[in-house]
Amino acid sequence: MSNQGMWSLYLILLGGPGAGKGTQGQMLSTYLGIPRISSGDLFREHIHSRTDLGRLAQSFIEQGALVPDDITISMVMDRLDRPDCRRGTILDGFPRTVPQAEALDDELRRRAKQISLVLDLQVAFQILIERLTGRWLCRVCGASFHTKLRPPAMAGICDFCGNTLFQREDDHPETVVQRLEVYSHQTEPLRQFYAQVGLLHVVDGGQSVEEVQRDLIQALKTRLGVG
Ligand code: AP5
Ligand code: MG
Repeated sequence: MSNQGMWSLYLILLGGPGAGKGTQGQMLSTYLGIPRISSGDLFREHIHSRTDLGRLAQSFIEQGALVPDDITISMVMDRLDRPDCRRGTILDGFPRTVPQAEALDDELRRRAKQISLVLDLQVAFQILIERLTGRWLCRVCGASFHTKLRPPAMAGICDFCGNTLFQREDDHPETVVQRLEVYSHQTEPLRQFYAQVGLLHVVDGGQSVEEVQRDLIQALKTRLGVG
């Protein structure tokens, strides 16, 4: 980044399941030099290491439902208070309900911070289904690939860190449909929530990965003067 002053950026990536929050969040994190916090990844780490929180979250995630707000909020806020977030962060998949958004506003205010911009990746449901059912992920660095749309150079191996790729339990077609339903009812109202305070920036997430990235970087330049 060219601006070297004491900036801090709190970006939110909004968008349905498979909209590209992980893919774009990873790229923005590298570009801006601030961490990406994915609530879904945090839950999956807990599930993988068999913590109590992981066991609880698993039952909701497997059904394509949301994990209760109080648990989610405290998990994300704990992560946000780690020192690597002092210059801000990219929130991927959080907030996802109006109560989560309100809690985030309150918590940031208490830390004398505020949300910089909400980047809303808009993608048609049909495309989301196709993307999720072909997705492969890296457990180590979190990079996201797709058998047809974005194949790794070597099948089953991460291009970035060389570790093994895996498919998510909740990417089965029936669970994907449930996740889309949950998104429509519980998360889409956030678009209005942020639009009315002038923070929402809509991007066409149905374009190629590179085109979406270009539009996101453009938005950071025009709306925030960074990059
Ligand atoms: P989470 O992990 O956040 O899943 P999600 O929101 O359903 O989104 P995904 O991670 O599936 O998609 P993505 O937008 O990151 O897309 P990606 O970049 O991978 O949450 C999982 C679960 O955890 C939830 O269902 C819930 O139970 C729980 N949870 C999480 N947060 C919560 C919260 N705040 N409150 C309560 N519960 C919570 O891309 C998808 C695929 O498409 C990849 O294969 C990728 O390579 C490909 N692709 C990406 N962009 C493009 C492009 N432009 N063109 C072509 N292909 C593309
Ligand atoms: Mg993701």
